[in-house]
Amino acid sequence: MPIQIILFISGGGSNARQIISYFQDNEAIKVVGVLSSKSNHDMADFCAAHHVSFFDMSTKDFGQYLSISQQLNVDWVILAGFLKKVPAAFISSYANRIINIHPSLLPKHGGAGMYGKHVHQAVALAKEPYSGISIHLVNEEFDQGKILFQHAIRLPLNANADEIESLIRELEKTHFAPDIAAHLIGT
Ligand code: GAR
Repeated sequence: MPIQIILFISGGGSNARQIISYFQDNEAIKVVGVLSSKSNHDMADFCAAHHVSFFDMSTKDFGQYLSISQQLNVDWVILAGFLKKVPAAFISSYANRIINIHPSLLPKHGGAGMYGKHVHQAVALAKEPYSGISIHLVNEEFDQGKILFQHAIRLPLNANADEIESLIRELEKTHFAPDIAAHLIGT
């Protein structure tokens, strides 16, 4: 029986696509669904083509996230660019089984309101010599759960937010899915 994972997204879903493709023929880990807090027709089409259930959650409350996850017998929840705060009731149902990706080297540039472009703008403003990604467990405090993996990259001098974002997206593409595999099955 494979380990079953579900992906929660709010944005375009580039991380979710990468994860679905990576685990497509994997016998140990199976992506059983994508729950999107916003309508996303392209992602719905991608899921249909890859035989993964897609749920448009734009009009749904968090109780529905829990009931769908339970109905699908999910073992692990992956936040792949998910911008809603996960409520305590959900976290306690999947304690230490929720993984988030954050596009900076936590604890730098994390916390409420720090997502996507906002993070890269803060990194540019601070003239950080490095940025990177953090893959961490989710607890009740924004971006404060145990860090599982971090990957850093040196930034060009005076890099702007767009330049930083494209470097970070490359790191996400390279590392997120293999890190999930490493944490879940130790390979
Ligand atoms: C990713 O860069 C992810 O690291 C970030 O949102 C983006 C989603 O892109 N997550 C956060 O900022 C969480 N605080 P995607 O929808 O194309 O995968």
